[in-house]
Parts: sequence; structure tokens; C-alpha cells
Amino acid sequence: MSRRIGVFCSGGDSPGMNAALRSVVRTALYLGYEPYGIYKGYDGLIDGHLTPLSASSVSGIIQRGGTILQAGRSSRFLTPEGRKQAYATLQRWDISALVAIGGDGTFKGAHQFLSEYPDIQIVGLPGTIDNDLYGTDLTIGFDTAVNIAVEAVDRLRDTAAAMGRLFLVEVMGRDAGFIALHTAVASGAEAVLIPETPTDFDAIIRVLERGWQRQKTSSIIIVAEGDEAGGAIKAAEMLRDRFPRYEIRAVVLGHIQRGGAPTATDRILASKLGAVAVERLHEGATDAMIGTQGGEVILTPFAQAVKTHSGVNPLLLHLVEVLSL
Ligand code: F6P
Repeated sequence: MSRRIGVFCSGGDSPGMNAALRSVVRTALYLGYEPYGIYKGYDGLIDGHLTPLSASSVSGIIQRGGTILQAGRSSRFLTPEGRKQAYATLQRWDISALVAIGGDGTFKGAHQFLSEYPDIQIVGLPGTIDNDLYGTDLTIGFDTAVNIAVEAVDRLRDTAAAMGRLFLVEVMGRDAGFIALHTAVASGAEAVLIPETPTDFDAIIRVLERGWQRQKTSSIIIVAEGDEAGGAIKAAEMLRDRFPRYEIRAVVLGHIQRGGAPTATDRILASKLGAVAVERLHEGATDAMIGTQGGEVILTPFAQAVKTHSGVNPLLLHLVEVLSL
């Protein structure tokens, strides 16, 4: 391993990526390495868009959302030619070890790259709001995204109660319902629709009916973007016909959930995992993601981390049903 370590953010940005960068850079310096930042994920690697990073280049960023290196998804890295150019960049800059901060697409790309260029080492940090990676209880950004969504739902609850309405609130998660489920429990929602379970409108109507009978003034349903109903707007259309008692409104929170200052939980997680990533690279680790499980920091091979996630917690699903009584 050369003395240079590259670091980049890839895929959709997530709050806490900057805290992770700061930790990687400062730990690398502490251990005597020279950290290099790669802009815009894999595209920056292909185009040779790199910069040396010092301790002060990462000053004042622990509290900032987004990423100072920018992120992005690269279609070129999906091609052998793109990966060849990325390898050439690493050779030119004499970098043989990388920290990749991103989600499943990022790690799939890294795994493919390493099968072709095994003289490179890559360790990953789970940077995604979706929490959909196997091998970690939490991904960097998830806690912040949930807190943003909960705050938004609290606000919507005020107007819903004042106007006697039903709100369907769509949160992010194309393939995973973690943000939706956690938001639903934390905001006291009446129901939640997630991609992991079939959408049962009859059951939802029963819950709404039950609430109506006991004179609930408002109802909130959290809808994951990837739920089979097709999102909050479509789900609202279905319910309008079947439950005309409430006036219904649909709200899509969208990318608001990805912005703003990371929570303390995300900053601490990012700081911890960032430091361990560099230490593990130093010890020779590669082709694996650093995660945290039951308070322990663990390594999970990329191939396993992206294959699946541990599934939504059935207890939380049950809680939404019971506590909406
Ligand atoms: O993977 C993170 C995520 O925010 C998902 O929750 C969401 O489905 C997707 O990215 C949105 O992607 P984009 O930023 O490209 O619209």
C-alpha cells in the first residue's frame, strides 16, 4: 500500500458524509498517510479530478449536510473502459487504497473494480439515508433523514387536526421502508405503507374507520416512495373513493430529507466508522464495508452487504398497528 489514500462520496448524498470525510482525512494524517479527495464519486476517479486534503481542508464541516467533495452516480464506471480509466488515474496519482462512502450501487461498483484490479484496496462506509445495507444496524444519514421526516409530520399533524383531514406523507425509500417505518412509529402515524409488505387497502380502511368511530380529528399515513401503491399521491387517489369522510391531502417530502445538519447520532457514527475504515485499510482489509452491529464495529464483504438487508423490524410494524388504536 502506498502512503496515499483516496476518499470519495458516491450515489445519493446523505447527511453525515462530511463528518465521515473529516474522520477519514484526520485519521489518515494521524497514521502518517496522505489523504486525497476525489470529486463526484467514480466520475472524478475516471476524470482524474482529485485534490490533496489537509487537516484544515476538513475544518468546520462536521455539522454540514451534503458533501464538500460532491457525490453522484456514474454510468461510465459501469463500463470496463470507465473502470480502466479509473485505474489509470490511481496509478498516475500513486494511490492504491480507497475509502468509498456510499450505498449499494457504490459497493457493487467497488466489488467489480476489485475483481479486475486486485492490487487496489477499497473499504466502504455506509453512506445512505435508506439504511438498506446488510452488515450495519445504521447507515450514515438515516437518523437525520428520519428526524427531518418526523419533524415534518409533526407540523402536518397540526394542520391535519385543525382541518380534520387525512394526510398521506411520502418519504424516501425506493426499495426499502426503514425511513417510513421509523417515521411512522415516531410520529404516531395511523398506518404505514412500505415496499417490504403487500399494501392492504381494506386493512387501512378498517384503521381509518376505527379512528373515525372514536372521533379522531386527523389521521396520518406514511408512504414509502417504493411502496406498491406507487407513492402518496396514488395512494391518496385510491383512498379518496373508498373513504370519503376525511378530506385527503398528499405531501411528498422528497429530497428535503437529504439536506441539513446531521444529527449527533449520525456525526458520531460517521466519525467512528471513518476512523475504523482507515485503520482497517492500514491492516490490509479490502472489498468490505465497515458497519456497526450491536455496538461493535464489524466488516462485511461488499458482495454480502449489497445482496440484501436484514429486513424491517416486525415489532415496529406491529407497533404502528397497535398504537394507532
Ligand atoms: O438512495 C438514497 C435515495 O435518497 C433514495 O431514498 C431515493 O429513492 C433516491 O436516493 C433518490 O435519488 P435521486 O437523488 O437520484 O433522485
